[in-house]
Formats: sequence, C-alpha cells, structure tokens
Amino acid sequence: MLRNALSTDVDRLATIWYEGWQDAHADLLPDELKRLRTPESFRERLLQRLASTRLAELDGDVVGFCTLKDDELYQLFISAPARGTGIAAALVADAEMRLKEAGVATAWLGCAIGNDRAARFYEKCGWERAGASVIVVETSEGPFDLEVWRYEKRLDQA
Ligand SMILES: CC(C)(COP(=O)(O)OP(=O)(O)OC[C@H]1O[C@@H](n2cnc3c(N)ncnc32)[C@H](O)[C@@H]1OP(=O)(O)O)[C@@H](O)C(=O)NCCC(=O)NCCS
Repeated sequence: MLRNALSTDVDRLATIWYEGWQDAHADLLPDELKRLRTPESFRERLLQRLASTRLAELDGDVVGFCTLKDDELYQLFISAPARGTGIAAALVADAEMRLKEAGVATAWLGCAIGNDRAARFYEKCGWERAGASVIVVETSEGPFDLEVWRYEKRLDQA
C-alpha cells in the first residue's frame, strides 16, 4: 500500500534512508560526504521534503519511500528485506504519475556512480542513462558537488 508520509513516519523513514545509504552509497561516495550523512541529517532532510514524500507499507510496516523535488525523482530507498519484491517499482510508477500530473515532460534522477543495482532497476523501469553530470547535494555544511549518473524518462508519451 502506498500513502503520503506523515510527520509520525519521519523516524522510520530516516532509519530506512540511513541504512540504505550505508548499503548503497557509503562505499562509493567521498569520505567527506559520508561524515555529513548522519542519522540526524537524514531526519532533517526528510522533514524538509515530507510534503512530497510517498511511502510503501507491507503488512503494516513502512518499508520504503520516494520523494520528489520539482522535475526530479529525488530519493528512493527500500528497506533491505523489501528489496526485490516489486515495492520499488510501485513507488516509481506512483512517482512518475505524480510528476506527470505536475506537468513534467522529462523527469530526471541522479544515481551514485557504481550503484549497479539501482542502475539496473531504473533501466528495468524504462529510465535511460544520459551520461554523468555534476549535481549539487544538500548537507548541513552547505552545498556539495557530486558527480552522478543522470537518468531521464520522458513522461509525455503514451
Ligand atoms: C535501488 C532500489 C530502490 C531498487 O529496488 P529493488 O527492489 O532492489 O529492485 P529490483 O530487485 O526490482 O531490481 C534490481 C535489479 O538489479 C539486479 N541486481 C542486484 N544486484 C546487482 C548488482 N550488484 N549489479 C547489477 N545488478 C544487480 C537485480 O537482479 C535486479 O535485476 P533483475 O530483476 O533483472 O534480476 C533498492 O535496491 C534500494 O533501496 N537500494 C538501496 C538504496 C538505493 O540504492 N537507492 C537508490 C538511490 S539512487
């Protein structure tokens, strides 16, 4: 089941984000960024983005979430036991629908370079890699430049 995230979900979502970040990003991204990605930092960023966050529940447990930012599929994190179940695909389909409803013709997302599982997943969902590009990510100490794989998907076609 998918639903809008509430303030009461923030602690659970921050845990999923922090643990997923450790699984998928900690070995790929610079040490300086790793130092800034504390559990509290994920909590603060979630609070800022709560209004655009949808989550997935399985048997009453929150197991993943997806957040949007303008024309960007901004964050997608699934708890380890719920990976490979189709929940991520349901959240992406829901995100694409929300982006399309907001009038976005081509959506984009940044994927950590070397996050091969996520890359494979996005490609299965019809997203195409548009090369590498430098994006600015938010940290408690200000903007941080990060090179990522940029993925795009046209949403204005049937
Ligand atoms: C990325 C994520 C959302 C994908 O959801 P998921 O449920 O794991 O996705 P799926 O299992 O449906 O698809 C993953 C695919 O990658 C494949 N895969 C698994 N490990 C892989 C690896 N190391 N290299 C390449 N492909 C891999 C799987 O076999 C599967 O492909 P298949 O269906 O053709 O067999 C989820 O794994 C997750 O939350 N990961 C941690 C956080 C993260 O990386 N978020 C994305 C940030 S950009």
